[in-house]
Parts: sequence; C-alpha cells; structure tokens
Amino acid sequence: MTGVDHALAGTVFLRRGTGAVVAHRAEVLRLMVRPDLQSHAWGTRLLDAAVAHATALGLEQLQLSARGGTGIATFYTRQGWTQVGVFPASLRLGPDDIRDEHWFQLRLS
Ligand SMILES: CC(C)(COP(=O)(O)OP(=O)(O)OC[C@H]1O[C@@H](n2cnc3c(N)ncnc32)[C@H](O)[C@@H]1OP(=O)(O)O)[C@@H](O)C(=O)NCCC(=O)NCCS
Repeated sequence: MTGVDHALAGTVFLRRGTGAVVAHRAEVLRLMVRPDLQSHAWGTRLLDAAVAHATALGLEQLQLSARGGTGIATFYTRQGWTQVGVFPASLRLGPDDIRDEHWFQLRLS
C-alpha cells in the first residue's frame, strides 16, 4: 500500500494453506507500517484489505501470530480477532530476549 507521498506505507501478505485440509484458510504475515506513518490507521486499512481479499477468494478463516511483550494483542482483538492460544517462550529474539507467541484467528464465514 502506498501513502500520501506515493512511497511504500506498509505491507501485508496472505499465505493460503496448501493441500485440501487447509486450503480454506490463510495466514496473515508481515503486517508492517512505516514507523513515521504508524498510528494513522494504515495498519487497520492494511488488515481490512487483507480480510477483504481473503473473503473475495472464498477463504473461511485467517490466522496470524504476534510476539508477546508488545501489547499488540489489543490491535487485533479490537478488529474482531480472537486470541486462541499462546506458545510460551516460543520466540528467541536474542540471547536474553525470549518471548511468547500469541495466535489469533478470524472466522470469515
Ligand atoms: C502493528 C502495526 C502494523 C499497526 O499499524 P498502525 O498503522 O500503527 O495501526 P493503526 O493506526 O491502524 O492503529 C493504531 C492502534 O493500534 C494499537 N497498536 C498498534 N500497535 C501496537 C503495539 N505495538 N502495542 C500496543 N498497541 C498497538 C494501538 O491501540 C494504536 O492506537 P494509538 O496509535 O492511538 O496508540 C504497526 O504498529 C507496525 O508496523 N508495527 C511494527 C511491526 C509489527 O509489530 N507488526 C505486527 C506483527 S504481528
């Protein structure tokens, strides 16, 4: 998505499940907004666009994960996502920085 200055404002990707068992769902990946443009609803617009695209593709649900310790769960739950579980100490960001991984789901149908 491009911002007001026509430079890249942010990104979001959908990765659809491969194989019949998981082809009805996709994972939302790399939702990122340029730091100087954050808190201006670009992240909400990007997530809305990903949901609209998934719906147009006929997908039934989306999943995503977020690192713990950021408070970002609020961003997703405000937009209707449900936190379905946490993998404790699942992410090693550095030698002394180990985080939980929070998983979210959005049912589309
Ligand atoms: C998360 C992200 C995509 C949100 O984009 P954004 O354009 O800032 O989001 P919006 O303006 O639509 O919504 C902002 C609101 O979301 C919530 N929020 C967003 N990021 C948050 C965070 N890290 N911690 C707590 N709340 C957060 C806040 O309520 C915020 O409101 P505020 O700005 O008034 O405090 C952006 O902050 C980002 O790129 N972060 C770094 C990468 C990242 O963490 N990606 C998510 C991977 S799961």
